[in-house]
Amino acid sequence: MALHEPTVFITRHIPEEALRIIRSAADVRVWPEELPPSPEELRRECEGVDGLYCMLTDRIDGALLDATPRLKVISTMSVGYDHIDVSACRERGILLGHTPGVLDETTADLAFALILASGRRIAEADRFVRAGKWETWSPMFMTGQEVHGATLGIVGIGRIGQAVARRARGFGMRLLYHSRSPKPESEGLGAEYRSMDDLLRESDFVSLHVPLTEETRGLIGARELAVMKPTAHLINTARGPVVDQRALSDALARGQIAGAGIDVFEMEPVSIEEPLLALENVTVLPHIGSATVATRTKMARMAADNLVAGLQGKPMPHPI
Ligand code: NAP
Ligand code: GLV
Repeated sequence: MALHEPTVFITRHIPEEALRIIRSAADVRVWPEELPPSPEELRRECEGVDGLYCMLTDRIDGALLDATPRLKVISTMSVGYDHIDVSACRERGILLGHTPGVLDETTADLAFALILASGRRIAEADRFVRAGKWETWSPMFMTGQEVHGATLGIVGIGRIGQAVARRARGFGMRLLYHSRSPKPESEGLGAEYRSMDDLLRESDFVSLHVPLTEETRGLIGARELAVMKPTAHLINTARGPVVDQRALSDALARGQIAGAGIDVFEMEPVSIEEPLLALENVTVLPHIGSATVATRTKMARMAADNLVAGLQGKPMPHPI
């Protein structure tokens, strides 16, 4: 593509082996701070570069692209790309890459950890012991919901949703799913299709695995929470804005549903003032779905391979 040595900006420190891949093909600048660049800093750093290696914390919009006309390749170290204005990139002929597939099992592990944690009150019980409140064993003390044998409703049964379904089978769960199109492979996993409302009505655990799009923003709001069983749990490892967070905290506070396990928030990092954080029946995590050393290293390499291919005018291994 470029006749000069291409230049690349990387918005965070990444594993050395991924950095080596990029350095073999480009002149690289890495953002030196722990916190991400602000939009102004990102714009300044991207002026005059050919490639951008970004994270889900970096907003890539038309204003940024207008200010950085040399930018031709963007690679995000994430599978989700709701932080990128894809049409604005397409209009400008910018190539885009992401990291699908490599994090499915790891993210499904975390979703399942939240199913268990929420159903069996793990975080609440941990806080209880540490606070010195544990006085005795008693028959109905800290009782929660059964996970084995329960009904799991998977909303968005793509790569990660199917990996969750495979785990659920091992727990003897009954499986329901909802997607816009039928998924015969999910039926092979024993999952039955349901309309959204039927899934919400029948499930003991509802686990969200849709991308954030205009269609899925606010997919779970007050009306949907009211359809769920009072004993049910909502698990969100997809994206925060898929759930109306205020409606969720109201439903949990009123006991309209039994619990929630949340890895992603409307605004990240979530404010300490967020009402959800004051509730005992919520397990909260700081967006760590894919956070294992092995998986993050694979994602970093995959994003590096995408970037280098794009810069060299070759097809990206994992284009958006
Ligand atoms: P995927 O393979 O594309 O699966 C997404 C599924 O959602 C598809 O089966 C799609 O099927 C369905 N879907 C899309 N729009 C829908 C709608 N309006 N209603 C119902 N179903 C809909 O994606 P994935 O790799 O599994 O990842 C899913 C999302 O998980 C990512 O986009 C990302 O936001 C999130 N994620 C979070 C973490 C974390 O750290 N917490 C880690 C990885 C990924 P149809 O198109 O047929 O409807
Ligand atoms: C994480 O949330 C991802 O989209 O990779």
